[in-house]
Amino acid sequence: MKILVATEKPFAPVAVEGIRKIVEESGNELALLERGSRADLLSAVADAEALIVRSDIIDRDVLDAAPKLRIVVRAGAGVDNIDLAYAREKAVVVMNTPGQNANAVAELVFGMLVSMARNRFDGTSGFELKGKRLGLQAYGQVGRNVARIAKGFGMEVSAYDPYLDDSVLTAEGVTPVHDLHELYSNNRFVSLHIPATPDTRGSIGRDLVALMPKGGILINTARKEIIDEASLLDILAERTDLMYIADVKPDREADFLALDAKRVMFTPKKMGAQTAEANINAGLAAARQIVDYFTTGNERFRVNR
Ligand code: 3PG
Repeated sequence: MKILVATEKPFAPVAVEGIRKIVEESGNELALLERGSRADLLSAVADAEALIVRSDIIDRDVLDAAPKLRIVVRAGAGVDNIDLAYAREKAVVVMNTPGQNANAVAELVFGMLVSMARNRFDGTSGFELKGKRLGLQAYGQVGRNVARIAKGFGMEVSAYDPYLDDSVLTAEGVTPVHDLHELYSNNRFVSLHIPATPDTRGSIGRDLVALMPKGGILINTARKEIIDEASLLDILAERTDLMYIADVKPDREADFLALDAKRVMFTPKKMGAQTAEANINAGLAAARQIVDYFTTGNERFRVNR
């Protein structure tokens, strides 16, 4: 069967080699489309039975162009790039590979935060993270890794996650917070780890960010869609002590930079999961899940039931 890896942002070569090994040793065939255009994708899926993607958009047109497709695996966590309902309608199983790139994203949180805290290494005095408070909005795989690293820095960590029992947090030395307003009011740094869903879109903006203490930094390695950009711009203009760090560039990037380029930091391209380790973890997991699905029908990581 043809398993197509179609990634606009390619995996590290070592991960592609690993995927190829799994695919070929299982008697399947690997096709690779890296940095392809939309037209390339539409033609490459025509005879694919399985698809491995990252943030690549898998919408109706792609699914309609892939009559033989049985499974799509998003090598990563967020599945907001895939039309899950339409895939289900077409009997295409969609899976993700939860947790496989979580450490890479968590490490980037601190890479960016330290850079901001040290004034981007411009030679002036910055500040330390030790003893400061970090609030996590959601305690999934990434949030949990951020908490682990934050404790190494000597930070005090709390988290808001209405889907988790307090005992999960307390067992890991994280203080549970039940009110989102409290999370923003009590933490100098708030790191976002919620998915982009109809409920979360545009949910983070002025109302919450205005509650942050002096010198507050909002960190977004999740999705740009969860931000209400107009109202975040508004509060950043009013509160000149607040900062915004994002691995997911806002649509209105120029407006944020025009406001104060020193108080915002954006990666040129989403970099959170861009490590060899994360590519290997997520890419190989995706290949294994496909082979397992073909051989045993295992749907453990299915997200469109
Ligand atoms: C994810 O949802 O897994 C991360 O945001 C990484 O996305 P990427 O594979 O597009 O880098």
